[in-house]
Amino acid sequence: LLRRSNAASTSPCFLRRAFSSEAAPERKVAILGAAGGIGQPLSLLMKLNPLVSRLALYDIAGTPGVAADVSHINTRSEVKGYAAEEQLGEALEGSDVVIIPAGVPRKPGMTRDDLFKINAGIVKSLCEAIAKYCPNALVNMISNPVNSTVPIAAEVFKSKGVYDERKLFGVTTLDVVRAKTFYAGKAKVNVADVNVPVIGGHAGITILPLFSQATPKANLSDEDIKALTKRTQDGGTEVVEAKAGKGSATLSMAYAGAVFADACLKGLNGAPDVVECSFVQSTVTELPFFASKVRLGKNGLEEVLGLGSLSDNEKQGLEALKPELKSSIEKGVAFVRSS
Ligand code: NAI
Repeated sequence: LLRRSNAASTSPCFLRRAFSSEAAPERKVAILGAAGGIGQPLSLLMKLNPLVSRLALYDIAGTPGVAADVSHINTRSEVKGYAAEEQLGEALEGSDVVIIPAGVPRKPGMTRDDLFKINAGIVKSLCEAIAKYCPNALVNMISNPVNSTVPIAAEVFKSKGVYDERKLFGVTTLDVVRAKTFYAGKAKVNVADVNVPVIGGHAGITILPLFSQATPKANLSDEDIKALTKRTQDGGTEVVEAKAGKGSATLSMAYAGAVFADACLKGLNGAPDVVECSFVQSTVTELPFFASKVRLGKNGLEEVLGLGSLSDNEKQGLEALKPELKSSIEKGVAFVRSS
């Protein structure tokens, strides 16, 4: 049913039966913003993951209900809810992976950048707490705009003297999930077999799917590839508009977040060949942060993989995205330095 491949996302643990003979190490996962649109289904999916032994659910509103509900599921992890700021330290202590979907989502007409003011402040304060209570945890940043919130987190950790670039990840998995789904539909191939790297960042044109590297190969026209690229870049907006004011992608995002966290846990546990795309500190371009394929391991980020060969259109897309990505990164850095 589940094929082996170098992309960890094709065999997420939460779809696999947890055999009692499997001696998975103890792992604590904390979700900050656990009662939100993403947080709730993400809490459910992480509760189903047999690699998790303790699940800490933190939110400033609605946590007790979500924690009680999820805790009744008869899977390995012990669930605890943390409902107020004074409990954040306890929620974080001992965490191996911290997933952050806290913040406000987009409404129709808004860009991810419009969220900056509110979410920047939320992310900054949560990262200050991470620096204090679990500086060694792998941080999976979901809160938008990811192109800025990851640099914000890095600046906070630097200011606290705990920054380790191997532990900070912007979650761009939803872009990969979308690219795979849309490609499979157009190429008429089995979606479970599809791999498509997505590079750049996580907003509009900074999202650059590399369909020239997609497998299985298909003979799609330039026009098809252009349309697929645009649909991947606008995937978030497609959902925002369909939800008509009731938020942005939550269910597909929870799935993507669970896939990425699962890959982080597998890496920590020493599984070989765990490769996902993520927005990380990087030297593959001149920009300080960039999304590309990365290898995950016992220390978090083990290796930032190169971009591979790009088609002419992808090369153009890469050059076109750089100014916007650069300014989003700088905006995040400036936010922390000026506050
Ligand atoms: P939501 O509004 O449904 O949930 C956000 C949750 O965060 C709420 O429960 C709220 O109480 C909580 N929260 C707010 N401030 C907090 C704080 N200081 N500490 C802890 N919790 C806090 O929003 P939704 O739809 O779950 O989206 C969350 C974030 O994820 C947004 O920034 C959204 O833009 C982003 N997102 C990211 C995607 C990605 O691909 N990386 C995709 C979709 C959304």
